Amino acid sequence: MTGTKTTAYGNAFTAHMVLADWTEESGWSPARTVPFGELPMHPAMVGLHYGQVVFEGLKAFRGRDGGLALFRPEENARRFRDSARRLAMPELPEEVFLAAAEELVAVDGGMLGGDGSQSLYLRPLMFASEPDLMLRPARRYTFLLIAFATGGLFGDADAISVWVCHDQSRAMPGGTGDIKCAGNYAPTYLAQNRASEKGCQQVVWLDSEERRWIEEAGAMSLFFVRGGPDGARVVTPELTGTVLPSVTRASVLDLAADLGHTPVVERVSLEQWRKECESGEMTEAFSCGTAAVVTPVSRVRDEGGDWTIGDGTPGPVTRALRGALLDVQHGRVPDHRGWLRPV
Ligand code: COI
Repeated sequence: MTGTKTTAYGNAFTAHMVLADWTEESGWSPARTVPFGELPMHPAMVGLHYGQVVFEGLKAFRGRDGGLALFRPEENARRFRDSARRLAMPELPEEVFLAAAEELVAVDGGMLGGDGSQSLYLRPLMFASEPDLMLRPARRYTFLLIAFATGGLFGDADAISVWVCHDQSRAMPGGTGDIKCAGNYAPTYLAQNRASEKGCQQVVWLDSEERRWIEEAGAMSLFFVRGGPDGARVVTPELTGTVLPSVTRASVLDLAADLGHTPVVERVSLEQWRKECESGEMTEAFSCGTAAVVTPVSRVRDEGGDWTIGDGTPGPVTRALRGALLDVQHGRVPDHRGWLRPV
């Protein structure tokens, strides 16, 4: 199988970072912007040992008018609070999250050129910084915001191939699959290595109970297109508690309606995916996320056999949705939903 290789991602950091601390006695300290650099770390800090760590991913863009704007940061602020609550961590007030994001973009956004090829990826993180190896929620936390410039996780809209994992799970009912905690990611690496060995770029995750229903692709949401290109059904799995409520997923559902398609939220089984691709009913598939934008999926590798989606090239509905998302983000079309927050 062929496809784009993952490009270098997340190592061209900007010059500054924002920090704030929380203690049981004083709550959140005022946020401070400091030069980007290493952090002091106690060898017994709770986040390192027991994984009390949550994070977010959001982007800022330079618009056609030359101004900088964050894309739907309020959604990330809300999810950051949801994630913290689930891990018994203090919630960062939304206004502090937003002010920190605006501050970092204002200070370091100058590195974004005006040609629309790059965006600034912001990574908010909160970790338990108390040194204590007792098993209980920490009493000290650090909020950290860093950023790097990026062109995207994958090459420009090249299609990826995916491998279906049948014996490991990304999430389980009652677990943490619907929040963004650090612990959700390392357990996927082994399967990701196996996908790479099979010549694929990403893993397709099935539900952990029946191992039948499709949930996500790697760390991205997954979409299927039935029919099209005019008036397609743009389908994505429902948020069952084991699927991340992705901001890009929600945006794509809205954009699909704008483009005259029917957004559909429903379960899709692996069997359905194969059969509907073979019958021609399912014409396209794509994954999406803050980092991945909208990335076409062209081929599926499974233990029961492989199949191609459509003609194996990025389809028109996928391309139009990717274009529509990037157009809003880069301020190339009117922002009628108010998704951009100018900085
Ligand atoms: C994102 O798309 O923002 C993600 O969090 C995925 C990954 C880079 C961790």
